[in-house]
Amino acid sequence: MSSANFKQTLVTSALPYANGEIHLGHLAGAYLPADIYVRYLRLRGREVLYICGSDEYGVPITLTAEKLGISPKELVDRNYASIKKSFGGFGMSFDNFSQTSREIHSETAQAFFTDLHSQGVFKQKTTEQFYSSSQNRFLADRYIEGTCPKCSSEEARGDQCEKCGSTLDPTELINPRSVLDNSPLELRETTHWFLPLADWQEKLEDFLGRHPEWKDNVLRYCNGWFADGLRDRAMTRDLNWGVPVPLADHDGKVMFVWFEAPIGYISATREWAAQKGEPEAWKNWWQNPDTRLVHFIGKDNIFFHALLFPAILMAHSEDYILPDNVPANEFLNLEGQKLSTSRGFAVWLPEYLEKFSADPLRYTLARNSPETRDMNFTWEGFLARNNNELGNNFGNLINRVFTFIHKYFEGQVPEWSEEMMTDLDRDALKEVAADLEKWAGHLEKFEVKAALEACFHAGQVGNRYFDESAPFKSRKTDLERCGHSLGVIIQILRQLCLMLSPVVPFGMEKLWGWLGMESDLWAGGWEEGNQIIPSGRQLGKQEILFPRFEQEAIQVEIDRLQEMLGE
Ligand code: MF3
Ligand code: ZN
Repeated sequence: MSSANFKQTLVTSALPYANGEIHLGHLAGAYLPADIYVRYLRLRGREVLYICGSDEYGVPITLTAEKLGISPKELVDRNYASIKKSFGGFGMSFDNFSQTSREIHSETAQAFFTDLHSQGVFKQKTTEQFYSSSQNRFLADRYIEGTCPKCSSEEARGDQCEKCGSTLDPTELINPRSVLDNSPLELRETTHWFLPLADWQEKLEDFLGRHPEWKDNVLRYCNGWFADGLRDRAMTRDLNWGVPVPLADHDGKVMFVWFEAPIGYISATREWAAQKGEPEAWKNWWQNPDTRLVHFIGKDNIFFHALLFPAILMAHSEDYILPDNVPANEFLNLEGQKLSTSRGFAVWLPEYLEKFSADPLRYTLARNSPETRDMNFTWEGFLARNNNELGNNFGNLINRVFTFIHKYFEGQVPEWSEEMMTDLDRDALKEVAADLEKWAGHLEKFEVKAALEACFHAGQVGNRYFDESAPFKSRKTDLERCGHSLGVIIQILRQLCLMLSPVVPFGMEKLWGWLGMESDLWAGGWEEGNQIIPSGRQLGKQEILFPRFEQEAIQVEIDRLQEMLGE
């Protein structure tokens, strides 16, 4: 449903793992599209809360910490600070960015677990799992290596054999050993709590059936899982870095990360409420049917957000709302290749921000948004989008108009009026108004790419109007006509400012000010932005919004990536 049908919208972006830095793939998937949507809602004056935080438990964190010789908490705190900082530099406008290793999260997740447990939702099962006595721990499937029973490859993993592609259960491996230290493994009995997802399948199918408007990719994945039949999933693990299972006599067991991490959205909302001194205010979001919940994620998170988390929310004895939409994006490739963080083939946000500003990257990623298929980021494309589109189509137009008005009209919006309107003026205004409407319609449906196409078109209309109404000529022959044309084009810039603001907020906050707008752009600026800017208004002094990039600036980046590819 559209955002206008709800009183308020709660938006989340997938909690990034606190195991490294943010890269372009993350941004294009779960972060930038969400931030654009949130800014759009704020612009429209809608009630919105934007929640995120870092996902700090799980085996990979423990291993990295061990490698660095620091505690897991030290590692995640470091990474949290760095992720938070680079998200800030990129213009992510979270209302709260929390951490799952905080007390408020353990409390929240434990209360969830206890509620489900006391209702008898979990199935308790004892199974045999591989245990490393050298390391005193049970090992997750992917840390187990052995000989493949099918093709005899000696490097099969506990979950699958890469050589022959078979899916495996770790107990099928011959000579199982630990990936971590090559030690042999033994089977030991252990007890875990399972969520019998099969019991929820019908309800989940009904739930999805009520959302035919969800993106095709999301529905397709879910229907695939339904067709296979949902299975029991263990919600607990034998590890020491995680949220402790709140049951007596179960020391050393923690919650499965995919059980507790999504609950992190709730914990972070509770933290937000507590910080503003209204500790109960989170309920007004999570337990209020007037709230529209929207989860932005990458496609690898679909199962957990469209099925597992909704099942957990349904199972809770209190009434939690369910997601109204789960806009999942496909992946972003880099220079035509799959991103690989292990090989270092990625563009990291902190490094990007040391050299460039946020707007051009936001714009480029939004123009290439992987909404319905994987998309590609290239540095050449980045340069072209910046120079040709941000620079030429938008920046130059803005700059030319302001320069002209400052030079010949003392920086005041010239006289322009209904009586002086020609077809040329009317057509341009009509086209831009139509683009603005299309733009809004697309953003309501999370269609960032299509929204930007409408916006780009409006920029072209503005440029064409400037060339055809030619104030630079009429200035010498008909000053009144010249002023009128500039008055018209200022209205076009006002609408361009609205359309560009969620995507390039740094630049558009400036333009908003130069246009002499008084309201807060992010608290319903839409209203003032849709009113005529009257003649006589004093405009601010502009500066270049989107400086050009030279080839040399990006060549360094291209060379670095080529080196990574070993070419
Ligand atoms: N950390 C996960 C990832 O980056 C996302 C977790 S989303 C949550 O893929 F909902 F579980 F928190
Ligand atoms: Zn094999």
